[in-house]
Amino acid sequence: MVEIGQDIDRAEQLLRKGEVVGIPTETVYGLAGNALNEESILKIYSVKNRPKFDPLIAHVDTLDKVKGLVDEIPEKAKILAKKFWPGPLTILLKKKRHVPDLLTSGLNRMAIRIPHHPITQELLSKLDFPLAAPSANPFGYVSPTSAQHVANQLGEQISYILDGGDCEVGLESTIIGFEDNDPVVYRLGGTKIEEIEGSIGSVRINVNMSSNPAAPGMLKSHYSPGRKILLGNIEENLKDLDPNTTGIISFQKEYDLPMKNLAVLSDTGDLNQAARNIFTALRKMDQSHLKIILAEYLPEEGLGRAVNDRLRRASV
Ligand code: TXA
Ligand code: MG
Repeated sequence: MVEIGQDIDRAEQLLRKGEVVGIPTETVYGLAGNALNEESILKIYSVKNRPKFDPLIAHVDTLDKVKGLVDEIPEKAKILAKKFWPGPLTILLKKKRHVPDLLTSGLNRMAIRIPHHPITQELLSKLDFPLAAPSANPFGYVSPTSAQHVANQLGEQISYILDGGDCEVGLESTIIGFEDNDPVVYRLGGTKIEEIEGSIGSVRINVNMSSNPAAPGMLKSHYSPGRKILLGNIEENLKDLDPNTTGIISFQKEYDLPMKNLAVLSDTGDLNQAARNIFTALRKMDQSHLKIILAEYLPEEGLGRAVNDRLRRASV
């Protein structure tokens, strides 16, 4: 049986032995293991049932540790690191030779970030190796934003989850890399594009859905909660449907449906709150009696863009 607790020393011991542990971050919970140990990496892939062509993010607690893992840091990446770390931004940087190819699925770049969560920062500060940590969900399902979410889905396969409460951001990190020194965003997430552009100028966004393994992070079904989601005008779409077998994820508005079929992301219209609630809403809709889920786009700004991206992926 999996245990949920706040024993950082215990998590440390397990990780030193090569085991995997659930950890909190400000974005979502991660399934952590030693990023420099191939056996630990293989355990992560196996517990998540994740194909090995989909590489893992490494987490550390200091810029010095980042420097020990990567070969060069472009100027703009340095600006981003200074401004957004610790925080929900993952940067793709050229890896050093000793970083296992298994971590990056054979790619030259590794994904790395300094997370902003006191428990995980303390854990990382005790370790002399980075933690590989993909979101702690089975491959193809929505990311967990509480320790209980992790226990529900991976509890049979792991022995310990560090509990850091509900995730503050609720969406995965934004992923950015550089092509010929030009910044490219590969995943919309917890760091707003407007803020990134405010510090390094305009960025190209390449988050198209694809099932092409050469374009990791963009897999189509990545957020599918298991049933059909219809995106559009909720009121219109609701007209011909049975409210007992219909679920609704609305931005602000209440609807006349059984409570268990309704998730309102933010009744005050706050996009950050909507981001915090989106994955719990998708989980709530994963009920067998629901035939269809109606959802709507949020304003395409701030974290609304990343929420819209997750809804789009869940709807295909
Ligand atoms: O917020 C987050 O990023 C969370 C927390 C736990 O830190 N982690 C997370 O990991 O979302 P994961 O594995 O679920 O998503 C990471 C994405 C994957 O889609 C992967 O394809 C992409 O990052 N990725 C990882 N390494 C990469 C690399 N070297 N090049 C391109 N994409 C990479
Ligand atoms: Mg994931």
